[in-house]
Amino acid sequence: MTTEQAEVEAQKKAAADRALELVRPGTVVGLGSGSTARYFITGLGDRVRAGLKVQAVATSMESRRLAEKGRIPITERNDQALDLAVDGADEIDPSVNCLKGRGGALLREKIVAVASRRFVLIADESKLVGRLGRGPVPIEVLPFFWEATSRAIESLGGRPQLRMASGRPFTTDNGNLILDTTFGAVDAQLGVAIHAIPGVLEHGLFFRIARAAIVGSATGLRILGELA
Ligand code: 5RP
Repeated sequence: MTTEQAEVEAQKKAAADRALELVRPGTVVGLGSGSTARYFITGLGDRVRAGLKVQAVATSMESRRLAEKGRIPITERNDQALDLAVDGADEIDPSVNCLKGRGGALLREKIVAVASRRFVLIADESKLVGRLGRGPVPIEVLPFFWEATSRAIESLGGRPQLRMASGRPFTTDNGNLILDTTFGAVDAQLGVAIHAIPGVLEHGLFFRIARAAIVGSATGLRILGELA
């Protein structure tokens, strides 16, 4: 690992450690997906094994495996509101809107984020942008007739690219495909238009969902939004 990579990992871990302080005993916690969320799940496992009583909902099979390894009790019942969900992001703007889904877990991540009283992002400072859309917007689509869905997305001005993994179409935990779609700068209205296309299950634009972002930086932690 280079010194730069080690610095990025330290920033992710510092953000995750601060988010762990938000976990209240006896609550249900949403577990995000990706390399930053991994630090949070590992840290939560340490606390659970030290006696903290919580339950968790995992947003991907990988996060679930990690949680089970840490002996975090997993629940799939939704009769209890989620107190807190903590997740990484690919891009975060100054108003704490974010773009997610490069790890392919965006559908479950958005369900859990919206179901939580507090949705808090954790990230290193490379994720901060002035405006969302620096990179492509991941869009989860049904495999059935996906080319037609892709053409409809193109008609909104996007350039969709089918996500591949090891020479085959990447498949989400839900059995769907991802179209990584370049639009340039994006806004909430575009999210509404993408959603209206039949065959689209979810997109990675999270406008007005996160309450705060904890961002590791070379000079310490930065908090965007309200943590309380
Ligand atoms: C997965 C996600 C991740 O949270 C996002 O890609 C950030 O990942 P990382 O923490 O590895 O940079 O949205 O679908």
